[in-house]
Amino acid sequence: MKDSIRHLIQQALARLTDDGVLPEGLTPAIQVENTKDKSHGDFASNIAMMLAKPAGLKPRELAEKLIAALPQDAQISKVEIAGPGFLNFFQNSDALAGRLEAALADPQLAVRKAAAAQRVVIDLSSPNLAKEMHVGHLRSTIIGDAVGRVLEFLGDEVIRQNHVGDWGTQFGMLLAYLEEKPAAAESELADLEQFYRAAKQRFDESAAFADRARELVVKLQAGDADCLRLWTRFNDISLSHCQKIYDRLNVKLSPADVKGESAYNAELPGIVEALREKGLLTEDNGAQCVFLDEFKNAEGNPLPVIVQKAGGGYLYATTDLAAMRYRSQVLHADRVLYFVDQRQALHFQMAFEVARRAGFVHAGMQLEHMGFGTMNGADGRPFKTRDGGTVKLIDLLDEAEQRAYALVKDKNPQLDEAELRQIARAVGISAVKYADLSKHRTSDYRFNFELMLSFEGNTAPYLLYAYTRVASVFRKLGKGIDEIDGRIRLDAEQELALAAKLAQFGELLNNVGEKGEPHLLCSYLYDLAGLFSSFYEHCPILAADNEEQKQSRLRLAALTGKTLKQGLELLGLEPLERM
Ligand code: ARG
Repeated sequence: MKDSIRHLIQQALARLTDDGVLPEGLTPAIQVENTKDKSHGDFASNIAMMLAKPAGLKPRELAEKLIAALPQDAQISKVEIAGPGFLNFFQNSDALAGRLEAALADPQLAVRKAAAAQRVVIDLSSPNLAKEMHVGHLRSTIIGDAVGRVLEFLGDEVIRQNHVGDWGTQFGMLLAYLEEKPAAAESELADLEQFYRAAKQRFDESAAFADRARELVVKLQAGDADCLRLWTRFNDISLSHCQKIYDRLNVKLSPADVKGESAYNAELPGIVEALREKGLLTEDNGAQCVFLDEFKNAEGNPLPVIVQKAGGGYLYATTDLAAMRYRSQVLHADRVLYFVDQRQALHFQMAFEVARRAGFVHAGMQLEHMGFGTMNGADGRPFKTRDGGTVKLIDLLDEAEQRAYALVKDKNPQLDEAELRQIARAVGISAVKYADLSKHRTSDYRFNFELMLSFEGNTAPYLLYAYTRVASVFRKLGKGIDEIDGRIRLDAEQELALAAKLAQFGELLNNVGEKGEPHLLCSYLYDLAGLFSSFYEHCPILAADNEEQKQSRLRLAALTGKTLKQGLELLGLEPLERM
């Protein structure tokens, strides 16, 4: 719709140029926005204000001429001038109703990707193995999952890559601990976190142990068979912990998506060699570095990307370069999105630049770091357990489900135990996910059980409940959401407002996919639920004035239900039919 308005304005501008009102050669970027207040129409453009100066007219004068020059269009009922010279476009309600009918008839809800379909690699979750996942891994996992779902819905081919840290120094510690206490393998390995902590304690208290751990990392990375066997075992246990969490979180990740750091091990010497051949390497204190002029430290000296340590070891950045090359040359990605903590922003900027200069990635490949802020506790400080330890993700999810259970039981005491449990699970997990997804990606936020489980405000319970309200209309009616005949007719103000919102779903999803920002989808669904609520209050559905109106309202409710459901699913939440 915005595109067709842009096109209309384009034509008006061309006419005014022909008439000599506007000078030749202007190519303004035409901005069209959704209006907030429907009394100002549905779309607004500031084009008259932008071009008033070159035209030598007052903005309102130019706006008048523009309106006179706009071609007729069936979608637009009228255009008005507002304020200092905005053009306000009112959409024709029949045309709007027609667009909603098209959405209702389409399993894709008439959503299409505006640009060409792409092959997109999503780097997400990527915890460091051998420890259990903690809350810090939550954001990457669920934000990346939601964006992946949206892109898939838009028609992109999405390849998920779980770039787990499975090759780091932590393994030396675990190997050293097993060597020292072989019996621990049987007793303690079952609780990996416990095992890790015991090993870490030995590492911190004994220099000899720490030395042995470092030796063992070298041995492992050199391919020692015994070390590798144990390492595989640690990884298997650790990955199966992760998988349990992914399943519980309803995240689309499977063992097949794991491509960890170790997978690039054999490529690393070649990466350094290729950089050398390109003349990009500089030796600095025995380490192999790439210096990039545009990245400088506080003293103004260029910062290096270190790709090989003086001792010969490779680094995080080296592996990322190998992964980029793989994603370009083997996966043929058009776009690669990295859902990784904002604090790694500089690492990615530099690594992307090195990969481009070295020709590791094809020129058209988009590389985007989708950084995110920190999840803090309710006190605004980094999230910690009462005794100061890191919070395990699994404990957090358990608590969310317990709290949701109490809440749902309180609201709905007559539910039977099995259904209660199932609803509590969906509400608890959805609440945790939604609280995260609804925040702006790059901001830090406070984790707060009370707020996220509230039935009021922009929360999962509110939205899940809104969907059950729509579902209950059809339950009462005894008909499926797809079994409603008739046509949508938009008369009441609340119907028009709801309809205009519904018609924005496709544009909104395109935005989410481009920017990698699921919070936009959350706000959209929250607004949609609010508009449905006032429609529901003011426009009786089952008690409508006549059959035609009843069918029309049912169809509007049906599209609202489908849009809410699709939206929740794209966020990775589980819509419930009742709660
Ligand atoms: N394992 C890393 C960490 O926990 C995240 C890896 C992100 N992905 C990447 N390609 N570097 O910090």
